[in-house]
Amino acid sequence: MAPRKLAAGNWKMNGDLAALAEIDILCDAHGAPSCDVLICPPATLIHAMKARIGENRIAVGGQDCHARPSGAHTGDISAAQLKDAGATYVILGHSERRADHGESDSDVAQKVSAAIAAGLIAVVCVGETEAERDSGQTLDVIGRQLAGSLPEGANASNCVIAYEPVWAIGTGRTPTTDQIAEVHAFMREKLAASVSDASGMSLLYGGSVKPSNAAEMFAIANVDGALVGGASLKAADFGAIIAAL
Ligand code: G3H
Repeated sequence: MAPRKLAAGNWKMNGDLAALAEIDILCDAHGAPSCDVLICPPATLIHAMKARIGENRIAVGGQDCHARPSGAHTGDISAAQLKDAGATYVILGHSERRADHGESDSDVAQKVSAAIAAGLIAVVCVGETEAERDSGQTLDVIGRQLAGSLPEGANASNCVIAYEPVWAIGTGRTPTTDQIAEVHAFMREKLAASVSDASGMSLLYGGSVKPSNAAEMFAIANVDGALVGGASLKAADFGAIIAAL
């Protein structure tokens, strides 16, 4: 099975009900895209966004979930609750969660298990810091994060990997195409050791993807799409990225 092409938008802590007007614009232009399209808004918007999308072929996802199915965890949301609200995906292990909430690889793996159990597709994020890249540790870091963040049972149907160098997120800086190709080839090879259908797993690149560089990113071997932050907030920009895939 060839990996599915996926353009995923992560709204992070941005957007309100009024911002759903962007979804109408996106649906008008890209409601029946030739690749998979996903938007992960704040949890407060999942239900309304899903309703707004209606029959258009755009999926909605969460940005995190708790590892437990229910219980006394004030402020948290379970994978099943995301699904109930209309989500079919959830981003897990984003570097902002790892940094802001101290999430370890093992925490991420437990959340991925919970997502899979609830029937969601997990978008599992990995990526090196600038200091790690400067000291030549990039592949070690990615290898460790992949091994630690994917639970048993992870496969190409229930997980997508997003390579997001921390230093490229929201900075306007990107790795060279050779650097992205090196990491993606490494991830494909590394996954083959633990995932039976690794050749079919979608590998996204994330970090300052925008309309002007998307085509270049998508031409890189083993890049099956993008996880887009800032440029996913405006339908015109995200639409141009979808069109480039
Ligand atoms: O989840 C998305 C990434 O963190 C990329 O964000 O496109 O704003 O750099 P960015």
